[in-house]
Amino acid sequence: MPVQEGIVGPIPEGRDPEDYDRLRRRVLWAMPYGLYVLGSRDGERRNGMTINFVTQVSFDPKWVGVGVEKEALTHELVTAGGVFSLNLIAREDRAIVRKFTKPVEVDADASTLNGFAFHDGATGAPVLDQAVAFVDCEVREQLDCGGHTFFVGEVVEAGFQRDEETPVLRMEDTRLNYGG
Ligand SMILES: Cc1cc2nc3c(=O)[nH]c(=O)nc-3n(C[C@H](O)[C@H](O)[C@H](O)COP(=O)(O)O)c2cc1C
Repeated sequence: MPVQEGIVGPIPEGRDPEDYDRLRRRVLWAMPYGLYVLGSRDGERRNGMTINFVTQVSFDPKWVGVGVEKEALTHELVTAGGVFSLNLIAREDRAIVRKFTKPVEVDADASTLNGFAFHDGATGAPVLDQAVAFVDCEVREQLDCGGHTFFVGEVVEAGFQRDEETPVLRMEDTRLNYGG
C-alpha cells in the first residue's frame, strides 16, 4: 500500500495508513521518558532547551546521547561548540520546561537564561543553578537521524546541586508529550 502524504512509512501490509499512524503515535507516546533542560554553548552564545530524547548509552566510556532537532538553535550550538550540559530538573520546578521551548534570552551580565540563574560548567555549557543535578559532556559521536541528530557525549563532569533525594522531573509529571 503506498504511504499517504504526510504519513511516515513503513506501514505494515493491509493496515489503514491513517489508523496505523495514530496507533503508532500513541504507542511511541507511551514510552517513558525523563524531561530535562539541555544547555549548549558556542563562544559567547548559549541556549537552554527542553528535551526528553535522552539516554545513557554505555558504562565504559561514560556516554550519554541526546536527540536534537536540526532546526533548533541548540543543534547549531552543539554542532559548533562540541559540548552540552544536561540539567535534571526538580519535579516541583516543572513549570521551567515551558520556558525552554524556544531560543532563550541570555543575560550574560546577570548570568541568567530567561531569568533563571546559571553558571558555566566544566565544558563551558550553561548549568542551571536550580537543577537538582547535572552532567556536562563533550561530544564524541553524532548520528544523522533525519529530522534530528543524535549527539553522543562523554560525561566529563557530573554533580548534585540539591538534595540527592529530590524527585526529578519525568514526562508523566506534565501534560506535555513529544515524539511519536
Ligand atoms: C515536552 C517537550 C519535549 C521536547 N523534547 C525535545 C527533544 O527531545 N528534542 C528536541 O530537539 N526538541 C525537543 N523539544 C522541542 C524543544 O524544546 C524546542 O522547542 C525546539 O527544539 C527549539 O529549541 P531551540 O531553543 O534550541 O531552538 C521538546 C519540547 C517539549 C515541550
